[in-house]
Amino acid sequence: MYVGVDYYPEHWPEEMLEQDLDGIKELGANMIRMGEFAWHLMEPREGEFDFSFFDKVIQEAKKRQLSVMFGTPTATFPAWLAKLDPSILSKDEYGHPRAFGGRRQYCFNSDIYHRYASRITKELVKHYANEPAIVAWQIDNEFGHEGSDLCFCEQCHTKFQLYLEEKYGTVNELNERWGTIFWGQTYNDFAEIPLPTPTVTTHNPSLKLDYARFRSASLNRFAHDMTKIARDHHAAHQQVTTNVSGGFFDKWFDHAENVRPMDFVSYDNYPVWGGLTEPVSPAEIAMTHDFNRGLKNQNYWIVEELMGAQGHNVIGYLPRPDQAKMWSYQAFAHGCSNMLYFRWRGMTKGAEQFCFGIVDQDNRYGRKYQEVQAVFQDITSHESVVNAPITSDIAVVYDYDNIWSWKSQIQSSGFDFTNELLRLYTPFYKQNASIDVIPVNRAFDSYKILLVPALQMIDDELAARFKAFAEGGGTILFSFRAGLKDKDNNIYLSRTLPGAIAELAGIHIYETEALAASQSVPVVDAAGQNEICEGSVWRDLISPQTAQVMYRYNDSFYQDKAAMTKNKVGKGSVYYLGTGLGEDRLVPIAEEMLVHHQIWHKKTADGVEIARRSVNDETYVFLLNHTAEPQHIDHQTLAPFESKVVKWR
Ligand code: GLA
Ligand code: ZN
Repeated sequence: MYVGVDYYPEHWPEEMLEQDLDGIKELGANMIRMGEFAWHLMEPREGEFDFSFFDKVIQEAKKRQLSVMFGTPTATFPAWLAKLDPSILSKDEYGHPRAFGGRRQYCFNSDIYHRYASRITKELVKHYANEPAIVAWQIDNEFGHEGSDLCFCEQCHTKFQLYLEEKYGTVNELNERWGTIFWGQTYNDFAEIPLPTPTVTTHNPSLKLDYARFRSASLNRFAHDMTKIARDHHAAHQQVTTNVSGGFFDKWFDHAENVRPMDFVSYDNYPVWGGLTEPVSPAEIAMTHDFNRGLKNQNYWIVEELMGAQGHNVIGYLPRPDQAKMWSYQAFAHGCSNMLYFRWRGMTKGAEQFCFGIVDQDNRYGRKYQEVQAVFQDITSHESVVNAPITSDIAVVYDYDNIWSWKSQIQSSGFDFTNELLRLYTPFYKQNASIDVIPVNRAFDSYKILLVPALQMIDDELAARFKAFAEGGGTILFSFRAGLKDKDNNIYLSRTLPGAIAELAGIHIYETEALAASQSVPVVDAAGQNEICEGSVWRDLISPQTAQVMYRYNDSFYQDKAAMTKNKVGKGSVYYLGTGLGEDRLVPIAEEMLVHHQIWHKKTADGVEIARRSVNDETYVFLLNHTAEPQHIDHQTLAPFESKVVKWR
């Protein structure tokens, strides 16, 4: 197990190096991660490579038995390169080049950039190929983060048109599938096709979806090319990864495809960042871990674990004593196997003066230092628990094409895909059931419960997979807008909603309504006895066919329309949630499903999380208190923000 810190030796006077490495060693660390932003230091002028600084750092690290994860520095190219050939700079939707000065302002489709990035990656990895201390290479840094997944430059335009020609073959095929007859947009040639840059009203939805797919292909091709270079030159003891940033459902690239050639996934865990006055919910943090574990269905690393408040120009919430430590244990509880904290010392110069680290500018080894030291000391004694595989009977499935379809036409101002995924995830999380978060094209027949949030794109093949799952005894919970669209981002013609799953769900939907962010509609149980809650974001006005009504709407005109239904299918059940019901309503339904399938779960006080692991017939649990108050769970008492691993009866 590796535990350590992100260390930027180039940020500090050289005379601080040994003192810093001693302090890192004293922390209990056995790894440092470095280099991901140091291209200029390694290639100060075009073609002149100099690794002497990092040679020295690595020698000092080895004296302290510190291993190294080294980052390839293509996220921050040198100014001399931008000056040499500004065409490497990506462009925003108005065609303005992004200025040199931030990071990741390069275009994934720039052949020039690809050439220089390939060379520095190759020279660096070759130089350290046989360095025993370097055990892992991180490719670039947080691909696509901070808006760097989009580019509207000329290179991208030309390659987008080529991408379309390759996909459709003929422009007539594209015209047909895009429906360009609408608004007279028929193309005579692929060269006439625009990027989805600002226009009057809005672009063709098929164009917008294909552009999203093109972004994903562009970014992932660059990532895979750089990965291949590393693979071609590193030694067998070195592995390859890249670090996934938060907000992954808001990005324009398929993350599972991005990490496919990597040996393992790395994730940057920031439960609170920038001007947030509170951390995101414990459920959302847990989901991000389950998502990263699901990318390769294996345990993952965290290479940036928050310890101090973070932000660029605006900062906010200060993690309370032991709270960041608890977030670390939550990560281990969800499949993190190695952890590096961001960062040893906060940088006193440059854009991240307010991205605080373990040590602050006063160089004191204070509360944060002790917290990290405590984590390392304790968690390394539970290595077998940490490395035990996580098995789940529940899977949430997602599809980036579907997410990008929603992003291309949001339909309801209250819609956010992450929120809709959490709507189905949280009721099970709150009962401490283990949940996988996986791409919909991944096999899911081994699960017992399938949660399918807002999946508009369901074709006949996928519907058949869902049907087989339910007939085999599985439980499926679909939420609204299911089955509306085909893979070209168009509405199916001559199909009654919910399209290919209408028979499976045992319902028809003839009318629907978008609910704005501020809107909600009254919902009652089937007997109409209890005005129980409200539906938000959207509503499908469900006409049950074979399904039984669980809840119905209670406003004028629609009291005969169901809001939620359950259909018996073979040995299984298919639930359809036609509107955004709240957690209070969905928790009991989730519990019914858990009990039916005899899935281990445990109700705990709000903010108390328990996660189980089996090691050699012994059961251990991670106990996490996400609250500022003492909490109790069975015979255990948890202090505010306390987290621990204990053997469970
Ligand atoms: C991201 C980046 C880091 C740093 C931190 C600051 O995770 O990977 O380089 O910018 O955010 O919080
Ligand atoms: Zn571009």
